[in-house]
Amino acid sequence: MKPRLLVRGAAQIVQVCDAKQTMVAGDASKEIAVFETDDCVGGYALVVNENGIISDIDTDVAIRHKYNYGEGSGIQAEDVFDEVIDARGCCVLPGLVDAHTHPVWAGDRVNEFAMKLAGATYMDVHKAGGGINFTVTCTREAKEDDLYQSFKARLLRMMASGTTLVECKSGYGLDLETEMKMLRVIDRARYDPDIPIQISTTYCGAHSVPRGRTADEAVTDVIEVQLPAISKEVQRGRLTVDSIDVFCEKGVFNVEQSRRMLQAGVDHGLMINFHAEELNPLKGAEMGAELGAQAISHLEEISEEGIRAMALVKSVAVLLPTTAYILRLRPPPARKMIDAGVPVALGTDFNPNAFCTSMPLVMHLACVTFHMSMPEALNAATINAAASLGKSSQHGSLEVGKRGDLIVIGAARWEHLIYQFGGISDILKYVVCGGKVCVSKR
Ligand code: NIG
Ligand code: FE
Repeated sequence: MKPRLLVRGAAQIVQVCDAKQTMVAGDASKEIAVFETDDCVGGYALVVNENGIISDIDTDVAIRHKYNYGEGSGIQAEDVFDEVIDARGCCVLPGLVDAHTHPVWAGDRVNEFAMKLAGATYMDVHKAGGGINFTVTCTREAKEDDLYQSFKARLLRMMASGTTLVECKSGYGLDLETEMKMLRVIDRARYDPDIPIQISTTYCGAHSVPRGRTADEAVTDVIEVQLPAISKEVQRGRLTVDSIDVFCEKGVFNVEQSRRMLQAGVDHGLMINFHAEELNPLKGAEMGAELGAQAISHLEEISEEGIRAMALVKSVAVLLPTTAYILRLRPPPARKMIDAGVPVALGTDFNPNAFCTSMPLVMHLACVTFHMSMPEALNAATINAAASLGKSSQHGSLEVGKRGDLIVIGAARWEHLIYQFGGISDILKYVVCGGKVCVSKR
């Protein structure tokens, strides 16, 4: 079998990491590993083998010699590889990783945007019958296949912005039947040949307290009804679920309720990846670090102790610039977290409140509104986002032995991916998943 793909002639191949790091923190998050051409070298090349794994990254010349094509050999690169991308004048980067999304739902909340522009807060909208509970009603009523079709369109839209691995949460069911329906919808996309984007699934049955129930009743339902039933489906091989999420927030689930549900998730073999410290400082980050959380999201209101606790156990902070932007929240203390050694990741937080599928835009917002540098934002949208999902041994950097998930942009320096905000559709030339070209604008 031929190797799947040759990308050649690149002005830059941005590896992100080159020593098999599984996450970066502190000073290391200010560095990006890049192969770049100088006057002595033509360009750089990358090979993805027949199994979809990166097998070589080197100069064009070295790759040409190794695979015996070109230069009077009478053999064309196209004879040797299934597919060849000419990346002259372009940069090659790892596929982007979106560490936090709520992509399965029905109903439209564009009206809430108008309310928020007129001064309503997230909790005002919630109390006026909007917010998560409105989406829950619509999602409970929706047919499974309709949910699937809209979910699929959203995934393809994410891929068209360069995302090749995405975390997908349930959480608009809040009862066993609908949470299971959402998890099945997410699972179906893993096996759909039209959806090459890779998925990490998070069960978020404690996204809100369902109408007609107290928080304690909802906790009992999650621990005694939903988790055991979902776990049984996982054990039977009918479902894949990677992580558990809860919304630890004043007026939703308190720290102790959240702790109990997260611990129950761990007992069922799930990683902890939850919402905390978004609107009020509750010490949810300290609790998450104590439980060894893989990741904690939002953290706008995290305390100094919370930062220290997360840095110590290397829980990944998943920061969400779209939410802070759209809700005009105080931004999370990203600089303090990075300086303290917390590994920082980014996500779109795609949901009916923050309708954004673009990681390049998220990186741009992180730089401007969270004061992150471009290398910090790229690390956060690749290797650290993969780390937040426990997948950084295969995803998040371009290194030999990792998955051939990459993007090619039509600019000679990678920073254009962040700098040209809102321009991703003009700049992105290829998206490659497992060595297969999935988006191409030749
Ligand atoms: O991450 N904070 C809780 N969950 C979502 C919002 C979900 C919604 O409003 O539907 C978030 O921003
Ligand atoms: Fe969220």
